[in-house]
Amino acid sequence: MDDKKKIHIFDTTLRDGEQCPGASMDEKSKLEVAKQLADLGVDIIEAGFPITSPGDAAAVKRIAREVRGPVICALARAVQKDMDTALEALKPAKRSRLHVFIATSEIHRKHKLNKAKEEIVRIATSSVRYARERIEQVEFSPEDASRTEPDFLCEVVEAVIDAGASVINIPDTVGYTTPFEFEALIKTLFANVRNIDRAVISVHCHNDLGLAVANSLAAVRAGARQIECTVNGIGERAGNAALEEVVMALDTRPDIFGGLYTSVNKKEICKASRLVSALTGFVVQPNKAVVGRNAFTHESGIHQDGLLKLRKTYEIMRPEDVGFGETQLVLGKHSGRHALEVRLNKLGYKLDEKELDRVFADFKVLADRKKEVFDDDLVALLENRLVSVPSAYQLVAWSASLDSSKKPQVQLKLKVRGKTLTASGTGSGPVDACYKTLDRLLKVRTKLLDYQIRSVTVGKDAQGEVTVKVQGPDGKPVTGLGLSTDVVEASVKAYLDALNKIAHSGPARKGRTAYGV
Ligand code: KIV
Ligand code: ZN
Repeated sequence: MDDKKKIHIFDTTLRDGEQCPGASMDEKSKLEVAKQLADLGVDIIEAGFPITSPGDAAAVKRIAREVRGPVICALARAVQKDMDTALEALKPAKRSRLHVFIATSEIHRKHKLNKAKEEIVRIATSSVRYARERIEQVEFSPEDASRTEPDFLCEVVEAVIDAGASVINIPDTVGYTTPFEFEALIKTLFANVRNIDRAVISVHCHNDLGLAVANSLAAVRAGARQIECTVNGIGERAGNAALEEVVMALDTRPDIFGGLYTSVNKKEICKASRLVSALTGFVVQPNKAVVGRNAFTHESGIHQDGLLKLRKTYEIMRPEDVGFGETQLVLGKHSGRHALEVRLNKLGYKLDEKELDRVFADFKVLADRKKEVFDDDLVALLENRLVSVPSAYQLVAWSASLDSSKKPQVQLKLKVRGKTLTASGTGSGPVDACYKTLDRLLKVRTKLLDYQIRSVTVGKDAQGEVTVKVQGPDGKPVTGLGLSTDVVEASVKAYLDALNKIAHSGPARKGRTAYGV
């Protein structure tokens, strides 16, 4: 393949994606995502912004130590302490990159940094030089580049390339630009920056006007060869360019993009999407391009008729190419451990003996309740396992009496550090009653920020997956996931999952945790 035609995929799900309110992940979740990104075949993983918190630095370090394949990158402001912290976190990586940024637009210079142009150039170049003395790959971003005066942008870019930056990223920080304008801006850089052939030009587009993917694609037509993007397009405000859309647009329209290609393993796309959604609690909208549940569903009779005659009449991508499960009937309650293992392998999951035992136990419980177990059911079981932490609180049993003329009454039985506790209570509905009873029983004080439910597969006996976002004692949102064929049970499990996470990594980690576990 012609290297000049390769578009490098720089994934920033773990940095810009995680930066959006409510999408925060713990270290274990970040590692899972990073491993999946490696399987997906992205070229660079921006693993975090280490100066922002010790937790972020630790996650970057762990990813640098344990994830092989992609270049591991960390973000730093053009400030020595930021750069040192990021460099330290990157040390265990085989291949690493430091990403340094400073804002260049007039509005940021005047109102945020209070610095003149000359000072910006001086800070940018001295920071890149400092970084380059310590690490081979240095990427530089002039923040808010799309609103920077083009002449000044060219000046900064030329200066940082001379200082040693080998990747120059052009961010559309506030999602303001449009495809024609952004393509022209990239062309301006190629036409006016003397040493531009010594760097790869990258773009980083936000989605405030819904143009992040279009702007990124316009930029590659002008010569950009790296796209910064996130799985499911999560990110600050309206998000970043969605990785799956960028990759599939290039793949589907080589005629328009002149044979530009990525090294992404497309069959892993849906798996990555589901994992990020499960770990962040950001449910993918059904009509989301490429990975939404309806992305390949054809409802109208005319479309269905056309599809049956020739798929290409209404299908521009094949669902199986992006790993979209065909919701086949796979297993039932008489299926054995080996059959489960074979099916999971087919779905791309390789589990060790212990993990397989656990998933098999969950599968048996599910198969007892549900006649038909589909691929998506198995994926949901696995994701639940991946995100779970050692359980301080476990649901043993529950019951509810419901009568439309009375308030619901629930009874809960839990295992808390080996002890069995029971309690009953009431509320405005069965879920509310369970949550209130749990709060009382466990003496916890949380705020429920969000509650969502989706059905994993089709049918009346489908599993419901509940995602809750709960504010713990340190004010940070924590995501909990619960799965069951019964929505009340799924809701209780989701809430307990969030409480377990708070108990596992809460602020009172030294000694007893916040909730006495
Ligand atoms: O949007 C932005 O400008 C950024 C930079 C730090 C690259 O995220
Ligand atoms: Zn950004």
